[in-house]
Amino acid sequence: MTDVRDDFPILRTSVDGEPPVYLDNAATTQKPARVLDAIVDHYATATANIGRSHHALARRATERYERARAAVQAALGAAHPEEIVFTGGTTDGINLLADTFGRERVGAGDEVVVCGMEHNSNLLPWRRLCERAGARLTVVPVDERGRTDRADFAAALGPRTRLAAVAHVSNVLGTVNPVREMIRDAHRAGVPVVVDGAQAVPHAPVDVRDLDADFYCFSAHKVYGPTGVGVLYGRRDLLAGLPPYRVGGGTVKGVARDEPVAYVPAPARLEAGTPDVAGAVGLAAALGYVADLGWDAVREHDAELVHRAVTALRKVPGARVVGAPEETPSGIVSFVIEGVHPYDVGGHLDRHGVAVRCGVHCASTFLDDLGLLGTVRLSFAVYNTVEEVDRAVDLLHSVRPGVWTAEHPTTRFL
Ligand code: ALA
Repeated sequence: MTDVRDDFPILRTSVDGEPPVYLDNAATTQKPARVLDAIVDHYATATANIGRSHHALARRATERYERARAAVQAALGAAHPEEIVFTGGTTDGINLLADTFGRERVGAGDEVVVCGMEHNSNLLPWRRLCERAGARLTVVPVDERGRTDRADFAAALGPRTRLAAVAHVSNVLGTVNPVREMIRDAHRAGVPVVVDGAQAVPHAPVDVRDLDADFYCFSAHKVYGPTGVGVLYGRRDLLAGLPPYRVGGGTVKGVARDEPVAYVPAPARLEAGTPDVAGAVGLAAALGYVADLGWDAVREHDAELVHRAVTALRKVPGARVVGAPEETPSGIVSFVIEGVHPYDVGGHLDRHGVAVRCGVHCASTFLDDLGLLGTVRLSFAVYNTVEEVDRAVDLLHSVRPGVWTAEHPTTRFL
């Protein structure tokens, strides 16, 4: 990986006099100047509403928004630009699907299948859907390393299974699900699959046609893009059949007082209101940035940092890496330290200028299955260095039980 640190203005700032050591990239990534510039340029030269007003700036804004859609289509290998719906992020995309596709498909006595490693965003929308419909949520168990066994997944697909929703990559352990094979198994059983790709898209090229995904969601902010915007990919025939999600401006062909409302086709039907045009432009710039770095370089870099962290953690007294991050390096290493609350570990690192996430990572049911109160998670991006990994792990040699271990030993953090 060439040195990309100069591309990221935030890395030239300081936290308590030191450059930030930011190892919380699975929560959100920093943004390169190319993305920031694209957003500023959009507002500076093309601010107008899209698809509505009949003037030159509106045409310019619409053209840039649709160009961003085409860039996402190309990045995901989707067959048609109208298969790309801009959303508010992964959570928004999955809620959209639960409230449209899910609501139409899932009835009393039916089943929805999810994996044990799901983030709340790919669990709660389905759980609520099942509660409302009188359906059953089937959770495919994880093994002791936090992996999904493909045979267990196939066995969970029954005659009443109406859809499956699976993480591509675990946000807690970085485990990669064999989604291509799982989708094949699901399709054999006549079950469509929703993939939560939030942690996959930043770390590997995703080709939705190669996966044969029915739906695939991700967030811009985890792949060097802005917050508040994301993508729902849906196969054209499936999107065409979806009812509107939120209704309002931009979703209709026409409205008359005493006639049924005629909605436009997807994707506009599913993008009610003024979308985040600058966000979409920023996302396209972010995807271009990563593509220019080259996926081989990104993956090698992830593997190098994961290996460095796992090797160094072996020498920290009481430390235990959870899962098998070196098997499928996705830039995530989760660990626990015997006798020290994860929040005391995170606090110690924070006091020394190192940012990590600790707790249950919005996946408490997965942590329950692993029998853990929480973990400390190092998550890497293209600008992280082996020196930063060493600094974080070196600091663990001086970590001590603190107030959380002593006074709140069983308190969990989301
Ligand atoms: N899903 C994000 C994480 O894992 C917020 O930290």
